[in-house]
Amino acid sequence: MGYDKIDVTPAGPVGAFVSGVDLSDFDNTTLDELRQAFSEHSVLFFRNQNLTPEDHIAFAERWGDINVNRFFAAVDGYPQIAQVLKEPDQKINIGGGWHTDHSYDQIPALGSMLYAREVPAVGGDTLYASTCAAYDTLSDGLKETLSGLTAIHSSRHVFGRNAEREEAMSGRIGNPDAATQDAEHPAVITHPLSGRKSLYVNPGFTLRFKGWTDEESAPLLQYLYQHIGQPEHTYRFSWEKGSLAFWDNRATWHWAVNDYHGKRRLLHRITLEGEPVAA
Ligand code: SIN
Repeated sequence: MGYDKIDVTPAGPVGAFVSGVDLSDFDNTTLDELRQAFSEHSVLFFRNQNLTPEDHIAFAERWGDINVNRFFAAVDGYPQIAQVLKEPDQKINIGGGWHTDHSYDQIPALGSMLYAREVPAVGGDTLYASTCAAYDTLSDGLKETLSGLTAIHSSRHVFGRNAEREEAMSGRIGNPDAATQDAEHPAVITHPLSGRKSLYVNPGFTLRFKGWTDEESAPLLQYLYQHIGQPEHTYRFSWEKGSLAFWDNRATWHWAVNDYHGKRRLLHRITLEGEPVAA
């Protein structure tokens, strides 16, 4: 199927720019085309959107149920919208390293819609990596080994009490007592929309392979992490005020680049509930 209602331009190894749509007002045929583009490209980038928080929520609800984040400070009056903020006097940002949101949940989130309200003139880009393209470029031998592995994920070391950055993130990330999740997922999943195989491990939340020690797991995980993060699998998105990126957590990693100290960056994030992931 082609696209009649929207224009879709691939951005690189992952992601596509979508134009010809106002996200606050579009019909169901357009939604079907957006679903197709999302399945094909894993991240959709939109420019020049003018969304109120209500528009953002309404756009998200056309895709499914919203996951109300346990840890992020919410936008005042909108518990469904997490605030992704770095003030000029803050050094640490949110999401400053490769990760996949919510892999520590038994049923991981489908993806997130991040909308730019205030961005620095230079810097503050977000990197995306395709975990599907990265799977495709592994050898048959390693694919075979990974097909029998399960990975253990956790939120405790990132969002729990005594997490490394707990103090620096105060006011932005909270509720550490809710960081009790550990989850097991196949190391390679079949993507629920596209049917592609995807490497489902990430440096943010994956601890080890099931039945392996941390020490035994580390070399293989490190190999996979450097493999997924290679430029051949990634795209770097530069934000403008009014940009929205909608990414699929089951097919991508992302990394918010922290290179804009002294400037303010404010984005609104809505995360969508997903479905169980399977090999
Ligand atoms: C995140 O990890 O959700 C934040 C991404 C960003 O700020 O670019």
